[in-house]
Amino acid sequence: MQKIAYLEDVATTKAAARTTAPDATERIAAILRARQHQPGALLPILHDIQDALGFVPSDAVPSIAGALNLSRAEVHGVISFYHHFRDQPAGRHVLQLCRAEACQAVGADALAEHAQRELGCGWHQTTADGAITLEPVYCLGQCAVGPALMAGTELHGCVTPARLDALLTALRQRDARQESAAAMPDDEVGR
Ligand code: FES
Repeated sequence: MQKIAYLEDVATTKAAARTTAPDATERIAAILRARQHQPGALLPILHDIQDALGFVPSDAVPSIAGALNLSRAEVHGVISFYHHFRDQPAGRHVLQLCRAEACQAVGADALAEHAQRELGCGWHQTTADGAITLEPVYCLGQCAVGPALMAGTELHGCVTPARLDALLTALRQRDARQESAAAMPDDEVGR
């Protein structure tokens, strides 16, 4: 029964992102070498890989399992259990909306609906332009100023739909400025 469940899992993740980049493969190998002999190494390894690459590629699972003497199903089970881990590259900005009780009591559900409508994507998905990935989180430690969200590494409290819209506009404007700076010839940048 367990085997069937695992095969189904594999089928559902067939579209998950893979990393064929030698650089990514080497970074994963370095993380495994550094961590594999530590007690309880699985979670630190997954965090390190996601911090390094932005996600945990599906084809890293066999290497992780081999290094820790675990089954692939065990590694896959941990990755899919924790909302924090993603198996696809994120957008340029990760927007994490708090879904825990204190925030729900002050409008997090309505805010989440608004966010999904505005972005045109659901949880763990990325907008069509690759700009924003929407993720749920369960308490950001800002319970007194809910609804709370985190945009990248910035915490925001008392977020209303209007404030969310303003934040999304600011993120997109920041992207546009960076894109036009990148497109500028080198001799123009310093002026
Ligand atoms: S419940 Fe949302 S920040 Fe704690």
